[in-house]
Amino acid sequence: MKIQMTDLRVGYPQIKEEVEKAIMAVLKKTNFILGEEVEKFEKEFAEFCGSKYAIGVASGTDALKIALLASGIGEGDEVITSPSTFIATTEAIVQSKATPVFADILPDTYTLNPEEVKRKITPRTRAILPVHLYGHPADMDAICDIAVRHNLKIIEDCAQAFTAQYRTSSDGKWHYTGTLGIAGCFSFFPAKNLGAFGDGGMIITDSEEVYNKARALRNHGSFVRYYHEMDGFNSRLDTIQAAVLSVKLKYISRWTAMRNEVAARYKSMLGKDIFVPVVKENCRHSFNYYNLRFKNKTIRDRVQKSLTDNGVASQIYYPVPLHLQDVYKYLGYKKGDFPVSEMVSDETLALPMYPELNDEEVTFICNIIMSSAG
Ligand SMILES: Cc1ncc(COP(=O)(O)O)c(C=O)c1O
Repeated sequence: MKIQMTDLRVGYPQIKEEVEKAIMAVLKKTNFILGEEVEKFEKEFAEFCGSKYAIGVASGTDALKIALLASGIGEGDEVITSPSTFIATTEAIVQSKATPVFADILPDTYTLNPEEVKRKITPRTRAILPVHLYGHPADMDAICDIAVRHNLKIIEDCAQAFTAQYRTSSDGKWHYTGTLGIAGCFSFFPAKNLGAFGDGGMIITDSEEVYNKARALRNHGSFVRYYHEMDGFNSRLDTIQAAVLSVKLKYISRWTAMRNEVAARYKSMLGKDIFVPVVKENCRHSFNYYNLRFKNKTIRDRVQKSLTDNGVASQIYYPVPLHLQDVYKYLGYKKGDFPVSEMVSDETLALPMYPELNDEEVTFICNIIMSSAG
């Protein structure tokens, strides 16, 4: 049996007709750049998340970069984030001319450890950039508390966490990730929970100032065509992608529920012997990824080999934590600085995860894992 990490073909027939109609409508209008579908999708996305504004951009990486800049982060500023994430998180910080400062993560949810964040605050710290890794929200009560005490901005990396929710202790209500800081940043990379047919991203915010600045930044720093108030970028969400995403958005809650069912099946088969993802009681997981942790690297590598030999894809997120990447040597970190992040690189393995993964496939995968984990 061949099983991929995610299989975009399986769910497609269900939405094919609607999606193709939506694409054809754009082709007929030829409104390819910032067409009305972009604004429509921005409104729908903002409404879904419960935020005032949404700004469609070219990718999740650009969403982070533009959100940082629109929030006033720049040269000389320090932004605290996790070393256990995709490099886009720190690329965005560096591209906004700020300096990434790493803080280690929690061993259960793999998200920023608030106590470690506190230790990293200096007079130059301006923002915290929590990553809701794999789709589990970071400890936002504690992070928001730190931000308020130290007058820091929060820019949330929700690339893997669209539809994930957090129940804040202040009001006891559920909030979608991305609505708890000054800006939330999303990716529509095809393998994300809400995937486009190419690249795309979104920023959400309740701040009119951030909204206006982000809208200008994504379009050459311009509010009025050919009049430029700042240096910006060419980073607009493509109209065809917006049309596709508008259709897919209608199904997203169902797909997240299906991902959670797949996760529950994995857990019921593996949860006794292997460390499976936890879901904190004040969190709802979006399960972009399903990440297992083994007792050590030898077992993890043996399981991965066995999965590969049997045609099952798996992935290490991420094999080298960011503080040990060549590109960040200049930041001066060394092995041992962030033991939990290093442990994640050595001992975890992500399994296939998509809404339509069926019982038979999950059982097949789990049997391979159980017989090779020893
Ligand atoms: C945690 C995280 N942040 C940011 C990004 C960047 O998103 P994009 O690929 O759309 O630029 C990704 C995408 O893989 C991601 O996983």
